Amino acid sequence: MHPVLRPFSHGDRDSVNRVAQAAFAQYRDLYQDWPSFNEGIGRMAALADSAELLVSEVDGKIAGAVVHVGPGRPRSTIFPEDWSVIRMLVVAPAYRGHGIGRRLVAACLRAAQRDGAPMVGLHTSPIMASALRMYLGLGFTRDRDLDPIRGVAYGRYVLPAAKLKAALGRLSAQA
Ligand SMILES: CC(C)(COP(=O)(O)OP(=O)(O)OC[C@H]1O[C@@H](n2cnc3c(N)ncnc32)[C@H](O)[C@@H]1OP(=O)(O)O)[C@@H](O)C(=O)NCCC(=O)NCCS
Repeated sequence: MHPVLRPFSHGDRDSVNRVAQAAFAQYRDLYQDWPSFNEGIGRMAALADSAELLVSEVDGKIAGAVVHVGPGRPRSTIFPEDWSVIRMLVVAPAYRGHGIGRRLVAACLRAAQRDGAPMVGLHTSPIMASALRMYLGLGFTRDRDLDPIRGVAYGRYVLPAAKLKAALGRLSAQA
C-alpha cells in the first residue's frame, strides 16, 4: 500500500465525507441521536473552508483525512486562539493498520511546528481507543474533562511545542 498525503481539493468533497462517516460508523451505538451526529460527521469536507484539510490517497481513492486548525483560525472556545488543533482524524476501516493515521497526525504536527504554535490540542474520547493510544504514545496528556457529546465522555488532550520534535521522531521511527 502506497498512501499519498496531499491537501484536499474540491473534487474530494464527497469522498472525504463518505470516509468520515465510514470511520465513525463503529461508534453508532454509543452516541445518542446518531442520525443527526452522523449528518454532522458527513460534513467534514466543509472544514476545508476555514482550516487545512489533508487527505491520504491510496490508488486514487481517499483512504483517510484529518483537519489541522492553525493558530488564528476559527475554533471551539475550548482551545486558545494561538494553538494548533487536530480535528476529525479518520481512516476508512478497509485501510486501517497501515500507518495512514500516523502519517496524517505527523502532517498536523509538522504544520503546528511550521506555524509556531505553542501547543497542539485535540478533543477525543476513551471510546476512540486506537486514536487515544496513538496520541498518548506521542506524548499528549489529558489536561481537562470536557462536557459529554451526545452522551459520550470527552477530554482535552495537549502536546506542548517542546515535545513536537520527539513526537515526530517517534512517528517517523514507526512509519
Ligand atoms: C484512529 C484511526 C484514524 C487510526 O487509523 P490507522 O490508519 O489504522 O492508524 P495506524 O495504522 O497509523 O495505526 C495507529 C493505531 O491504530 C490502531 N490500529 C492498527 N491497526 C488497526 C486495525 N487493523 N484496525 C483498527 N485499529 C488499528 C493501533 O492502535 C495503532 O497503533 P499501534 O500500532 O501502536 O497498535 C482509525 O482507527 C479511525 O479512523 N478510527 C475511527 C475514527 C476515530 O476514532 N478518530 C479519532 C478521532 S479523535
